[in-house]
Formats: sequence, structure tokens, C-alpha cells
Amino acid sequence: MSNYHIKDTEEYYQVYRKSITNPEGFWEEIAEEHFLWQKRWDKVLEGDFNDNEFKWFKGGKLNITENCIDRHLKTRGNKTAILFEPNSPEEEAQHITYNELSKRVNKLANVLKSKGVKKGDRVCVYLPMIPELAITLLACARIGAIHSVIFAGFSSNAVAKRINDSQSKVVITSDGAYRGAKTIDLKGIVDTALKECNSVESVLVVKRINSDITLKEGRDEWIQPLIDKASTECEPEIMDAEDPLFILYTSGSTGTPKGMVHTTGGYMVYTGYSFKNVFQYKENDIYWCTADIGWITGHSYIVYGPLVNGATTVMFEGVPSYPDYGRFWEIIEKHKITHFYTAPTAIRTLAKQETEFTTKYNLSSLKILGTVGEPINEEAWHWYNDVVGSKRCPIVDTYWQTETGGFLITPIPYVIPTKPTYATLPFIGIQPVLMDDNGKEIKENFVNGNLCIKFPWPAMSRTIWNDHDRYRKTFFSTYKGMYFTGDSALRDEVKYYRITGRIDDVIIVSGHNLGTAPIEDAINEHPAVAESAIVGFPHEIKGSALYGFITLKDKGACRNQEHLQKEINQLISDHVGPIAKLDKMQFTEGLPKTRSGKIVRRILRKIACNDTEELGDTSTLLNPKIVKEIMDNVVK
Ligand code: WT7
Repeated sequence: MSNYHIKDTEEYYQVYRKSITNPEGFWEEIAEEHFLWQKRWDKVLEGDFNDNEFKWFKGGKLNITENCIDRHLKTRGNKTAILFEPNSPEEEAQHITYNELSKRVNKLANVLKSKGVKKGDRVCVYLPMIPELAITLLACARIGAIHSVIFAGFSSNAVAKRINDSQSKVVITSDGAYRGAKTIDLKGIVDTALKECNSVESVLVVKRINSDITLKEGRDEWIQPLIDKASTECEPEIMDAEDPLFILYTSGSTGTPKGMVHTTGGYMVYTGYSFKNVFQYKENDIYWCTADIGWITGHSYIVYGPLVNGATTVMFEGVPSYPDYGRFWEIIEKHKITHFYTAPTAIRTLAKQETEFTTKYNLSSLKILGTVGEPINEEAWHWYNDVVGSKRCPIVDTYWQTETGGFLITPIPYVIPTKPTYATLPFIGIQPVLMDDNGKEIKENFVNGNLCIKFPWPAMSRTIWNDHDRYRKTFFSTYKGMYFTGDSALRDEVKYYRITGRIDDVIIVSGHNLGTAPIEDAINEHPAVAESAIVGFPHEIKGSALYGFITLKDKGACRNQEHLQKEINQLISDHVGPIAKLDKMQFTEGLPKTRSGKIVRRILRKIACNDTEELGDTSTLLNPKIVKEIMDNVVK
């Protein structure tokens, strides 16, 4: 019997040991006992970090949708698979059972087939967070088409770039999206993008906001009439374990996004197994991840991981601030959510509001909380723990990447005790190491190092679409024989890891290596501060000095700037050391952020360095206007 569900600390250590001493034996047991295969594999793992051609479960045949849907129908047919909460609280929620999901996925799969989509073809998905989004992913997987989801917030430029890179044949979009009180014209954006693309043969349009759109003759069609006519039966395409399941674009060090390719068998086994354990999911739990399916978090931990386990997964169409800042908490009360998984950015925003927005709702259904996407600072962690979780709910700070497909370092609730701001221990099968800048492994603790992974795991991406060379260079050339994450981390005396920020955020001040994250944490401790970002700028004496961009909770607090600056530097001095004090501070209305809420330090760095000629494309930012405001007020 395999250890599919780890229940205590001793078992974690025992299973972890097994997973690294005999990875093939370990993953074979998990894959065999808990997943449905049409044909068994010939070899569990082929390839290593020197040749960088990885195959997991080589020769195995399967269809992931049989695992996500068909095999649950007997026992869970009437269980809710997807619980959809619309943008407006006035609109009724939808409970889509596994039986219904099966029919809707098969119908859409048949529609795609009727449009000539075959195994291996790319389908571009540009949809809001509505059930059709998850259903489209599964319909593609049903027939072996490769989905390429583009977050429905990216501009037409970004859409065109991704469609051209993947050479998508079909685009699935909607007549628009609701976003709080606003609507977004998705179809218009697609129309503009397609002027630059020639691979697309059909555009299928979901009706969501009843807007007045134009359908281009011979190319565009409403999807619903096609679905109405389609059969509810669709034989699953039998896929090789290493056939691509999807492409998902993520930013890299250049302006061209990296199309990370994830394959079928290993991805399924790893996301399924990690979802089960990291959320300790039990049969009647109601799990809500607030991410958008346009990001890897949504692919792995809204769609595939939960559904493979027969879970109920919530999809929320709206935003945390609409109709007011209580919306998340209202939804938790309404649907008796047991698992809530969100981003530190959202936590900080909500913690800034009046506490009543949160406390007026009954959050007692919650059992487990999670965070992802960036390091969480102490203040936000404690607010999440105390106010949202009433100190009863373990917080899983899950560290991973688009490229890794699933969790790398994360607590397991009730199994690995949490520690504020620490992602804690490696997940099963993950072998982290810290490396120094000279390529030597750091064995000591309490030292910052470059975080690498020493051995392949089943969900890692296999290549960059159309650019295997870039894949090798980006991930495997910095440290020979290892996967380099691009992050730095600290390891404490019990071998817990704390992610301290991207390597490219490290700033050397007077010969001292300073990570931006701990300094930002210190600044964020100040009661007046909402958020901050630190970058380096050239300094005559110190080599580099620190520039802080800081947003305040209440703009009025800005009146005595000099005093505030002193207090902030004192905090840094106290938390990190006097060496980390800021030479320049700019109080700003906001920080430039990606659509997923990550601060774009690259832009701030250029502004601080007075190098603003080539800021790159700022149109895909969440708040493009802020860039000019910051430039106009730069501290000379
Ligand atoms: C980068 C990956 C993984 C899904 C969402 C982001 C940072 C991610 C954490 C965490 C500290 C984190 C890292 C990583 N990151 N999770 N729990 N603590 N940092 O995916 O857009 O591919 O970004 O996000 O810097 O490398 P992504």
C-alpha cells in the first residue's frame, strides 16, 4: 500500500526518505494505486539534469479527463465538482455535478472536433472565470488538444504574441467579462489581436455579458448553438504520458514570454498527490482557490489537482472589492468554504480595510488557509492567521513556479508545523539545495543561498514551446546538473526554508548581500505603510544603494514625510541592520504590478537608475498609469 495520504510528522519523514532514496519506486506505487491508466508505463523515469530530456512514466497511456471525471461518476456523480460564484452576489451560484461536468466536457470536446481540432493542435483560451473556462481545458484534454490559456486581462498585443508563438488553430473567448462594476471587451481584444495572427481558423464565443459584438463571417460563431447540438458522449483520446497537456506562458528575463510545456502523466500524478496532502482534502470539503485559471495556480490547483481527487472546487468570477471589501468573507460564509487559498497581495489589501469587513461574517467553516505567489510578510501572515483563521487554521505557504507544475516547498497541515514567513519543508520527492555564487553547495544553516533542485519530479515542465535551447539555458546552465529556481532562500536550524526573493532582486550594498524581501518586510511593519518595493541604484561610495518605493495606507499620513522616513529607516535598522537603510524614499500612490499582483521591480529599478528610455512594454500592467506618476516624482 502506498502512502497516498500522509497523516503525521513521522509518516512525512518516512515517506520523504522513501521518495528520495527510491524516487522511481515511490512514484510508481502512487501512480499505480491511485490513477487510471490505459496502459502501464515501461519506465518510470528517463533523463536527468545533464541531458535535460525528461520522460516520466514512459510508454504509459492515459487520458487525464478519465481520471478527473469518468472514474468518479459511479461514486460521486451527484457531488458538486465545480461550484461557480458569479461576479454579482445577486446572480445565483451554480453547482455543477460530476455527471453534468462529464456531459458538458464531452459536448464541448465534440464541438472542437467539428471545428477540425485534432490531437496535438493548440487551442487558445481567453475567457473570464466562468465554468466554460474549466470545461474548455478538460474538453481539450479529452481529445488530446493542447490548451494555451491566456489570462483574460492581457492586452491584444500579448494575446497576439502568444497565439503566434503557439500557432493556435482555434480561439475560445466570450462576448465580454464582468470585473466588479466594470466589463471588459474580450471579443474586441481578440479581434484586434487576430489582425496580427494567421494560424487561427475559428473563434468560438461564449455569451456572458450580452454585449453587442460583431461576428466575423466564416471565422466567428456563438458556441452555445453548437453545444446544444453536440452529443454528450465522447471517447477519450488515448494519450502518451509524455504528450503535452498544455502550454502556459510566463515571463522570463527577456521580453519574449516562455511557453512552458507541461505533459500528461507526471503532471497528473504530482498535482493529484500534492493537492491531496497539502490541503489534507476530505470528501465533503469545499475548496476555494481565488487564483485565475489563467495562471498555473488555477491549472494545477483549481482544475486538475482537485478534480483528480474528486473534490468540490470553487470558481469565483469577481474581485475581492466588489460590491465591497467583504466579498471573499461573504462567499466563505455562504458556501461554508473549508479551504481558502489566496495571494499575499490580496491579504495585504484586505488587511488594510476596516476589520468589520472581515469579522462580520461567520468564517467558522474554514479549516485550512493557504498563500502563494510571493513571500508573505510577518504582519500579513499574522492578520491572516488571527483575523481570518482565528488561530485555528494552519496556513500553508506554498512555494512553487509555473515551471514546476506543482508545489516545491510547503507545509502539510497537522503534519509539518507552520512558521510565519517560512514555506518550511520540501514536498515529497523534492530535493532542494542551496548553492553559493561559485557553484558550491552550502551545507550550513542560517545562510542565504541560491535555491536549486537536485532531482527531477513528475510535474516539472519538459521544455519551452519551440525553444528547447532556451529551456536548457534558463534552468540548467547556472548550476550544472541542477534545476535553478531563480530564487534565493534561507534554511533555519530545523531545515525549514524561507524564500527570500528572486536572485535578481539581490542588491549588494557596500559589499553586503541584501535581499529586498526582508527589508520590505521591515518597512511593511510600519503601521502607516501598505506596501513597498526596494531596488538598487548606483552609488559612488557604496557601489549600490537602496531606493524604496512606498505606498501608504492613508495618504494623510504622508504629511510629515521627514519624520516618517526616519521611523522607516529605524525599523530597517532594527530588523535587518543599519547597512540596509534606504538612501532614497519615494511615497507613491501605487506600485507597478503584473495582472497577478506581482510588483514589477524591473521598471522601478530603471526609474531609480534614471534609465527610463527603455522601460519595455508597460501596457500589460495592472496599473500602467502609475509608471508616469512615479517617474514625475522621482527622488533625485
Ligand atoms: C515565483 C513564481 C506558483 C504559482 C504562482 C506564481 C515566487 C511563488 C511563493 C511563496 C515566496 C513565492 C517565487 C517564484 N513565489 N510562491 N510561497 N513564497 N515566493 O507562479 O508566476 O511562476 O512565479 O513566485 O519568486 O519563483 P509564477
